[in-house]
Amino acid sequence: MKNRLSRIIKPKDGRTVMLAVDHGYFMGPTTGLEQLDKMVMPLIPHADTLMLTRGALRNYIPPETDIPIVLRVSGGTSILNDDLLHEGITVSMEDAVRLNVSGVAFSIMVGAKFERDTLLAFTEIVDEAETLGIPVIAVTAVGKDMKRDAKYMALASRIAVELGAHIVKTYYVEGFEKVVESCPVPVVIAGGKKTEEKIALETAYNAIQAGAVGVDMGRNIFQAKDPIAMIHAVNTIVHGNHTPEEAYQEMTRVKRDKYSRR
Ligand code: R5P
Repeated sequence: MKNRLSRIIKPKDGRTVMLAVDHGYFMGPTTGLEQLDKMVMPLIPHADTLMLTRGALRNYIPPETDIPIVLRVSGGTSILNDDLLHEGITVSMEDAVRLNVSGVAFSIMVGAKFERDTLLAFTEIVDEAETLGIPVIAVTAVGKDMKRDAKYMALASRIAVELGAHIVKTYYVEGFEKVVESCPVPVVIAGGKKTEEKIALETAYNAIQAGAVGVDMGRNIFQAKDPIAMIHAVNTIVHGNHTPEEAYQEMTRVKRDKYSRR
């Protein structure tokens, strides 16, 4: 378990840049990931961990690729349905082991009418993962009618931990220190919908300052104007303690260097 955790969260500084490209499991061919390998392969040298589904792993990522995998093991709904995020188990832990993953990720929906289903399925995954020494990341999903505030995020994150999560993935909100304070396992933040690059960098910075160990970011990287420059900038915040301004300058420098080499 510790060995796998240290593949996800780097022991040199206790931080991680997780590249999330699992969106297809409920969004289909998400903008930027239509040909997932073309987008993702050049980003891998800048990421510590790759989070994706087993279908994406099997079809797009060569087995020789040197990147720890966090496998999405929940799903069963799509953006076409109202009950989005009423997810169940989609991968057996036997297959997760066969795929040699460093961790698995499961979405829970605290506060939804079907919260019990997702929480109990989550504990089934935790039970099996414990016997195999595989860390489980709880993804604290937020329904469209729910208030995204520190009180909710702290509640959902703590429930995830009490039920056995080894890492919690949640969203950055004002007062994020409160979420981290009451969560005794490492916390990473999702990026959420694509926003301006400066705003995404500020969010990553604020989360780290509040005690998050890193990001599990997708759309704000692979939908950025220059995804390589963006993931590099995020990396400088997570591992280099850069301010958002410094990271933005770094992003501009990488873009300029690439342009001048053409
Ligand atoms: C959603 O639950 C998916 O797991 C995404 O991987 C996650 O939301 C992170 O991606 P993004 O930064 O695009 O929100």
